[in-house]
Amino acid sequence: MSNSIVDKNYDFFATDTALKVEGLSFSYSRKQPPVIRDISTNFPKNCLTVIAGPNGSGKTTLMKHFNGLFLPRMGKVVVFGHELTKSNRKHIQKLVGVVFQNPDEQIFYPRVYDDVAFGPKNMRLRTSEVHRRVNNALNEVKIIDLKDRITFNLSFGEKKKVAFAGILAMKPEIFVLDEPTIGIDPWSKPKMIEIIESFKRKRTVIVITHDFDVMKIADRVILLKEGQLKGEFSSFEDFYQQEFVH
Ligand SMILES: Nc1ncnc2c1ncn2[C@@H]1O[C@H](COP(=O)(O)OP(=O)(O)OP(=O)(O)O)[C@@H](O)[C@H]1O
Ligand SMILES: [Mg+2]
Repeated sequence: MSNSIVDKNYDFFATDTALKVEGLSFSYSRKQPPVIRDISTNFPKNCLTVIAGPNGSGKTTLMKHFNGLFLPRMGKVVVFGHELTKSNRKHIQKLVGVVFQNPDEQIFYPRVYDDVAFGPKNMRLRTSEVHRRVNNALNEVKIIDLKDRITFNLSFGEKKKVAFAGILAMKPEIFVLDEPTIGIDPWSKPKMIEIIESFKRKRTVIVITHDFDVMKIADRVILLKEGQLKGEFSSFEDFYQQEFVH
């Protein structure tokens, strides 16, 4: 079996860890202190890990390292056993799909179908394969009926799902979601949580959230505070006990 991440036959299943962070620190400028400091943790394959923490604790900054949007200057990011570098960043970006908090940052095309097709088309896939992937992705987030709608007219919650589908259509091995339930009303939230939970059937999922309802479906919760890793928990109950009861 090949061990090059660039190779189509790369054996993802050779490692139990999808993504690993080692001694990662980052500051936005030399004058500012680091906003994440010496973070080391593993994201197990096919698990749903939540990254929790107060506003400004560095969650989004950490996430931007997962697919090479930020390249590590201090420390490492390792994806399926391969250290992320400038030279393999393009390949790593195919493996790690990131959905930002605000769907307007991710939706560009006027028609839902075209927006979701953008990623697969960019991968130079055949039209039939693009079509299959768009349909699968829209079905997975349960918005196939929105396929021909104008993206700009969609509700916020619908736009979020289009943004999810756009990344899913590229078939990432690791799916990263920043605050997927922010702005989702309490009537729609249970369905949204069901959809998020279903994502881990086919891939590794990392969710950044403050939302207790999302933490309840997590296999693991990690806690960031002031840029540092302050805890790792195997359930929401353990996390809640440490943070809000004691
Ligand atoms: N582009 C930037 N330039 C300078 N500082 C930044 C930049 N982006 C974020 N920061 C700072 O880095 C720190 C961590 O921000 P980050 O967005 O990673 O936090 P967060 O945990 O995602 O917060 P939230 O829950 O509010 O989304 C904050 O103090 C923030 O002000
Ligand atoms: Mg954030």
